[in-house]
Amino acid sequence: MKVQIKNTPKQIGKVTGRQAFYRYYAGFSSEYVRDIFHTLDIQDQNTVFDPWNGGGTTTLTASIYGCQSIGMDINPVMIIVSKAKQIPLDFWSSIQGVTNELILMAHSLRRTIDNKDALFQWVDTETAISIRALDRAIRKLLFPQEHSDINTTNWNDISSIASFFMVALFRAFRIAVGRLSSNPTWDKKPSSPINVGINLFNLFQDVTTTMTNQLLEDTGNTPIIDARIFKGDSKKIPLNDGSIDVIVSSPPYCTRIDYAVATLLELTILDPQIESNLRKLRESMLGSPIILKEMENLKDDSIGLTGRDVLDRIKKHNSKSSATYYYKSYRRYFLELKKSLNEIDRVLKIGGKGALVVQSSYYKDIEVNLPQIVLELTQELGMRSRIIHEVSVNQSMEQINTVSRQYNKSRMYFEKTIYFEKH
Ligand SMILES: C[S@@+](CC[C@H](N)C(=O)[O-])C[C@H]1O[C@@H](n2cnc3c(N)ncnc32)[C@H](O)[C@@H]1O
Repeated sequence: MKVQIKNTPKQIGKVTGRQAFYRYYAGFSSEYVRDIFHTLDIQDQNTVFDPWNGGGTTTLTASIYGCQSIGMDINPVMIIVSKAKQIPLDFWSSIQGVTNELILMAHSLRRTIDNKDALFQWVDTETAISIRALDRAIRKLLFPQEHSDINTTNWNDISSIASFFMVALFRAFRIAVGRLSSNPTWDKKPSSPINVGINLFNLFQDVTTTMTNQLLEDTGNTPIIDARIFKGDSKKIPLNDGSIDVIVSSPPYCTRIDYAVATLLELTILDPQIESNLRKLRESMLGSPIILKEMENLKDDSIGLTGRDVLDRIKKHNSKSSATYYYKSYRRYFLELKKSLNEIDRVLKIGGKGALVVQSSYYKDIEVNLPQIVLELTQELGMRSRIIHEVSVNQSMEQINTVSRQYNKSRMYFEKTIYFEKH
């Protein structure tokens, strides 16, 4: 195998085309995924799977490359974002017409909305009503009839076209709300609803125009095969044993980032009662800072030498809550990662292969060498694995947290690509 990785996993510089529909702070760069496809020598008849598909870079790259792909994520927001990127290029000429129709429909759907709708906590009444009306219009016009009701939606069956307009609504809502916090991974709710002062329908129209232009930037890079994208949990992958040829993915960071809270605005559009449902989503996420009772009783601590060592050091650290909360939350992360890697191994064919991008991080002064941990876990499963690429990253998501930034300014963070194969 000839390693042909010229680009870094992270998106740097200007992002164009479909990838620019939605900027996901945790997203891969398309160029990097293309390099990985070349390195893994992916063939047309291969099925590529990303169990942590996020913004859908793997599925988009596979669709352009011309091979079958499957993308899974636990967050419905990311299902919609990655589906939107699958939109056919020639749909560009219909976008304006559909936008006008949606706005017209939304005008007639502007009936009073439930006063418990979580949108009211973010924006003024007028804006909240317009957002919900557009949401209803998108559902009515573009969702399968059985899923047009907010309570029965199955995100797996939503088309790329419906997803495109949902993403436009996500963006319009973000613009309306403005920047709430310096931390891109934490949407801080305003103390009182923001007075937006811009007509939401006009904003939606502007966003769809911008997205049409972004779509047109992709003329040479258009998807030729549809990806299958669905909501699912990496700890229990709903795919048959030995059904996948190649895996290209990146697990959630081990830096206590809350991926659900990072998309709270979008989730509020998808679920007016998100306040009561958010905890469930957070709990189901890998790397979630929430500690689960049932994990505390698990005896399984075989997480490789490095994982064990990191956990022991965290437990013995003299800072507050290290032996309790932090130890438990890291332990939870490692055990769930192991469970997910077991699942990856199960769905992979014999001779199947893959690449995982994994970043190292720190707990206080303790290095959490996650690439090494993943390497050991894959080898424990009997896979052949090795590091084929590494870059140092000067900013880790963890550093956004000012407390940990104070802890050590001169740290090195590494993002490593681990190659593995099942034999
Ligand atoms: C590092 S991001 C992947 C980014 C992706 N490579 C891209 O290009 O956008 C990790 C993703 O894992 C998802 N995730 C977290 N817990 C999960 C679980 N238990 N099952 C499936 N996906 C999960 C998060 O929602 C997040 O989108």
